[in-house]
This record gives sequence, C-alpha cells and structure tokens, in this order.
Amino acid sequence: MIEAFHRIKRLPPYVFAEVNALKAAARARGEDVIDFGMGNPDMPTPPHIVQKLVETVQDPKTHRYSTSRGIPGLRRALSDYYERRFGVEIDPETEAIATLGSKEGLANLAQAITSPGDVVLAPNPCYPIHAFGFIIAGGAVRHMPAGAGEGDFRETFMEALHRGVAHSIPKPIAVILNFPQNPTAQCVDLDFYEEVVDFCLRHEIYILSDLAYAEIYFGETPPPSVLQVPKARDIAVEFTSLSKTYNMPGWRVGFAAGNKRLIAALARIKSYVDYGAFTPIQVAATAALNGPQECVDDIRRTYKERRDVLIDGLARAGWDAPSPEATMFAWAPVPEPWKEAGSLEFAKALLRDANVAVAPGSGFGEYGEGFVRLGLVENLQRTRQAVRGIRSFLAKPPSLPTLDIRKAV
Ligand SMILES: Cc1ncc(COP(=O)(O)O)c(C=O)c1O
Repeated sequence: MIEAFHRIKRLPPYVFAEVNALKAAARARGEDVIDFGMGNPDMPTPPHIVQKLVETVQDPKTHRYSTSRGIPGLRRALSDYYERRFGVEIDPETEAIATLGSKEGLANLAQAITSPGDVVLAPNPCYPIHAFGFIIAGGAVRHMPAGAGEGDFRETFMEALHRGVAHSIPKPIAVILNFPQNPTAQCVDLDFYEEVVDFCLRHEIYILSDLAYAEIYFGETPPPSVLQVPKARDIAVEFTSLSKTYNMPGWRVGFAAGNKRLIAALARIKSYVDYGAFTPIQVAATAALNGPQECVDDIRRTYKERRDVLIDGLARAGWDAPSPEATMFAWAPVPEPWKEAGSLEFAKALLRDANVAVAPGSGFGEYGEGFVRLGLVENLQRTRQAVRGIRSFLAKPPSLPTLDIRKAV
C-alpha cells in the first residue's frame, strides 16, 4: 500500500488552492476575473534595477556559482539600510545573510533550529510559512489567536504569549512576529517590541520577526524593527525582503539580520542547500538598496490610492472594512448574511457571481475565519470595476449554500 509521506500528510493544500482552481476555471470560460486573491505585486520592478541586472549578466564571470550567504556588497547594502532606516548597526559579516526571498530564509531557519517536537509560538491567522516552516521541520506549533478586531491587540497578544509559555511542554523555542502582518495588516510600535523582547529574554525564547512589509506603510510613522530594541539581538533575528519594497517578488531576494548564532545556523544550512541567488540578481538587489529610493515612494503611493478606492468603494457597497495602515492587504469581515456560511463559501460565491477573487481568511488559520483578505494588486480602474461587481453582488439576496439545503429539508 502506498502511504502518504510523513511530512506531506501534515501539509494541507496551499491556502489559495480551492479558490485558484475556481479562478482558473472561470478564466478558461473566458471570464475576466479581478484578482485580489494573491499578494503578488503587479507593478514592474523599477527600470534602474532591471538595467543593472541586464548589465551584470553580460559578464560571464557572473555565471558561476554565487555565494550562499550573499555577496559581501549586498550584505553591506542591507547593513547600510538598517543604519539609515532604523539606526541599527548590523555587522554584514556575522549578523546578516541574503536569502532566496524571506520565505526561503524562514523555512531554512526553521530547519536549522528545530529538534523533533520542539514547540514554536506562531500567530494565527498567519502567512503559512510562519507555522508550516516548523511543521515541515518536525516541530509542533502552538497557535496564538491574533485575529483582528476586538479588544486591545497588544494586551491580547501578550496574554497569548504568556499562556503559550506557561502551558507548553516543552517550553517554546521561539515566537514568530510579523508586523505589519499578513493577512490582518496589524501594526505595532516600538513599545510593543520592547515588551516582547523583555519577556522573551527572561524566558530564553528566540524571536523570529518577519518585516516583509517594512516599507509598505501609509501613515506618517514607518513600521519599526524589533532590532531597534537594544538587547534584541541577543535573541532576535529579522527577515526583510525586496519583493514588496521594490516590486521584485519573482527575483527571490530577502535577508535575515540579527542574532549571530541564528544567522550562523541559517548560513550553515544554506551552505548545504543552495549556492545563493544568481550573482546578477544579487548585484541588482544591491543597486536597489543603494540606489535612488523615489521608486519606493511611488510604490507606496500606488498601494495607498488603491487602498482608498477599495475601502471607500466597499463602504459605499455597504461592506465596512478597516482601512489598512500598512501592507498590501485589506482584511475585511465577511458580510453579515455570509457569516454563518464562512469565508470560503463567501469567497467562492463572490468569484462565481461577481468575478472577484479574494482569499478566504480560514486559509490563514482557524482564527482567520470570519474574514477575507483582499490584495491591493489590481489597478485603480479594475479595483473600481470590482467594487461595482461587489456592490451588485451584495445587493442581491445571498445564495447561501448551507441555508438552501436546510430549506429544502
Ligand atoms: C509576511 C510575509 N512574509 C514573507 C513573504 C514572502 O516574501 P519573499 O518574497 O521575500 O519570500 C510574504 C509574501 O507574501 C509575506 O506576506
């Protein structure tokens, strides 16, 4: 008999699989689907970065294996970014590493530090690798409810952290932080990080912070880094990424910075697994970090305009969703008539009847139920078109699958 593989059995189909299948079917029928489903930036990489790649790739020396930790210039560029943006000094030799996107870095760090059965505290809902990186690595995840909405977020989070430590046997090895958060768009301030660092230092728990949305913010105050807390580097490592900041999701460039022991562990694993990103990509990534930053302002402005059109439009359609302060996502409560049917049924109906794809909150974890995530990855015109579709969808009586069955019985 063929048994499912041990690790594969523990991985449910990826979050977007069901909605993606419906999306593909609708497109095959020739329908125009407006796709807020994935967090896949739709804008082009700024031309000066592409130009650097093109220039560099002409040199055959760059065609050889690269270095898995990242070329020194790229690690220096990251360290300059930390200095400039957060006032944090990072030693490019021992406290920084380039990764093939932050997702790869998170997954390989989980492999590096997890012993079988080790417990990790992960927020729920979350970006899937935050929990599943550790499941793949043979660990166990204790979920910290971190949905949006009720109560004071900081209080709820700290309570979940206290409970997670008090009731986990063995004691957790690490906690995952991700602010601004995917999918909820939750942001935090430096005080919050101070409290978490203090707690984790006392309990000897590593902090793995994912700051993928460091530069995608819409207010006056940019999101802080956990490494701004003076003693954070004793226990914390932080992941950043070029994917969203410079519209480079397909290039696969990210970083980890912070605690030397964690960086060395990740470097060791990576030295076995990969040879680093293609050198021209690393050179172009260096140009992105060291070069003009107006392109980042433009990217931010574009997401902000889309956010405003979407949130205002939804409000006019009778769907109140909080306006995200950061990230490229709106996290919207499932409208009342669909609450009971749940986020997946709502997402499926919206796709079927309005040709608008959203990601069901339940795909990000059980505490994501009751919400859907809308990615700001369609242009203004298509976002307006989607809002019109949503408005007429919500104006009609809902075709609720479960309630219909009950009526039939
Ligand atoms: C919170 C978060 N972390 C990491 C990633 C992946 O980033 P990268 O392209 O650097 O792997 C994403 C992508 O959507 C994300 O939302």
